[in-house]
Amino acid sequence: MNLAGYAVDDRIPPPQKADYGIGLVGCGGIVNAAHLLAYRAGGLRVVACFDRDREAAARTAREHGIPRVAVSLDDLLADPAVAIVDLAITPADQPAVAAQAIAAGKHLLCQKPLALDYAAAARLVAQARAAGVKLAVNQQMRWDAGIAVARQLVAQGALGALADVRIEVSVRTPWHLWPWIARSPRIEVLYHSIHYLDALRFLLGEPERVTAVHGRAPDQPETGETKTVTVLEYAGALQAIVDVNHHDWSDDAHARFRLLGDAGIVRGTIGLLDDYPHGRVDTLEYQPNAEPRRWHQAALTTRWIPDAFLGPMASLMAAIETDGEPATGGADNLGTLRLVHAAYRSAAERQSVDPAEIAADAPATR
Ligand SMILES: NC(=O)c1ccc[n+]([C@@H]2O[C@H](COP(=O)([O-])OP(=O)(O)OC[C@H]3O[C@@H](n4cnc5c(N)ncnc54)[C@H](O)[C@@H]3O)[C@@H](O)[C@H]2O)c1
Repeated sequence: MNLAGYAVDDRIPPPQKADYGIGLVGCGGIVNAAHLLAYRAGGLRVVACFDRDREAAARTAREHGIPRVAVSLDDLLADPAVAIVDLAITPADQPAVAAQAIAAGKHLLCQKPLALDYAAAARLVAQARAAGVKLAVNQQMRWDAGIAVARQLVAQGALGALADVRIEVSVRTPWHLWPWIARSPRIEVLYHSIHYLDALRFLLGEPERVTAVHGRAPDQPETGETKTVTVLEYAGALQAIVDVNHHDWSDDAHARFRLLGDAGIVRGTIGLLDDYPHGRVDTLEYQPNAEPRRWHQAALTTRWIPDAFLGPMASLMAAIETDGEPATGGADNLGTLRLVHAAYRSAAERQSVDPAEIAADAPATR
């Protein structure tokens, strides 16, 4: 579509070679609400599934027409029809299961966070590289319509030099639906703002410093932080701010993004969270820095859930086909995890942190 003279497109093309067999491990909420709907729309082929909760696996297979329910992880990994293992299990278990899949020679799409601590994530990335398999992380917000189109506008110079970028989310999140998150000592950045930090790296590149403040709501039942502000400082004048509150009881809940440059501005809403839990398509408007001032509205069509979930899997399949790197490949994802851990270190030590300081000695977060 044409937006004030710039070519933008929020559709997510399926991979050219789309017939790799996918084996799902974990058949819970997100697989049923997002992965499987996006894969069906993209013409992808799910050949088997496994969950340690057998009923969850059987139900998922029944409802989505998956031909085989594996009786164990070994059974799924031994299946020659499975080329890609799509992991959607609780993150504490992910490194061990991913390591088994790598050892079985399978390519992998892992969930975010890749691991709870940085060292375990770095080990997985190294293991996949040594085994010659592709590992991608399901940071699908890069394909969410508002972020994808904002990136296209940045790349075409529509915003000029960026100075001020914001993601502001104030919502009421039912953490009790994920008891393992509600009990976690780390919540907001590790499970939620990780999407925004990855999207900001996609939009802006690598920041030089991270400064974070973490808080809680009075009387919140969750263990970890649920209110955070993360400031990313870049070379030059650019700052990006991620400001998130998960205990907003009011009817003023919102989820929006804004990129201000010297040549133009983008503002938009994140439809999934602005209208939680139903979700809707994002909005995005662009105003060039020229008279007469007016907003140009993008006619977006795709949603974060489920549509954007085609992106990481399609990119992984393209990387297998071309022996390239997936857009959200493991090595790239370590950059996002460095921002996550830099934010926790900054909040704990009440000082700014250079993400390059985050290395394999980052503290475990269990
Ligand atoms: N937008 C996103 O990217 C997004 C959204 C939601 C959840 N997630 C991630 O997806 C993962 C799953 O989340 P969910 O909301 O579906 O959780 P869920 O609790 O609904 O489902 C998890 C499923 O995994 C199964 N499981 C757990 N450990 C297992 C193991 N070792 N072997 C086999 N099965 C196992 C459980 O039985 C359960 O059915 C988490 O890592 C979460 O962080 C990502």
